[in-house]
Amino acid sequence: MTSMSSSSSSGSGSVSSGSVSSGSVSSGSVSSVELCRLDELGDGEARRFDVGSHRIVVVRIGDDVYAIGDQCSHQDVSLSLGEVDVDDCTIECVKHGSTFDLRTGKPETLPATQPVPVYEVVVRDGSVMLEGGA
Ligand code: FES
Repeated sequence: MTSMSSSSSSGSGSVSSGSVSSGSVSSGSVSSVELCRLDELGDGEARRFDVGSHRIVVVRIGDDVYAIGDQCSHQDVSLSLGEVDVDDCTIECVKHGSTFDLRTGKPETLPATQPVPVYEVVVRDGSVMLEGGA
């Protein structure tokens, strides 16, 4: 007769699931989307991009790039049609003249009172990348 006394493996060590890993694998949860080349954007230019269901206005000021929601929070007007103030880092809605801070998405002047979303963009290898997907 054989007797098997030691029972088999129940859980040895390999934890393969988990939402947060401390490793440095670069694939995974954060995806980036290339919007355009940096040199396609003129200084002070605003350009609209549609990424998924998101309408985003991307503005270049010098070597910095900002991205906020393109839809004015007052009415459905595209902020990319507005004028950029490179000194104040704002964009002005063409319809009623609210200015939005490109860093925070907040309106600085009436009639808009609600902020628009802010998106994270970086410049990598000369490309403007939207971080975190959309
Ligand atoms: S639609 Fe933008 S301020 Fe009115």
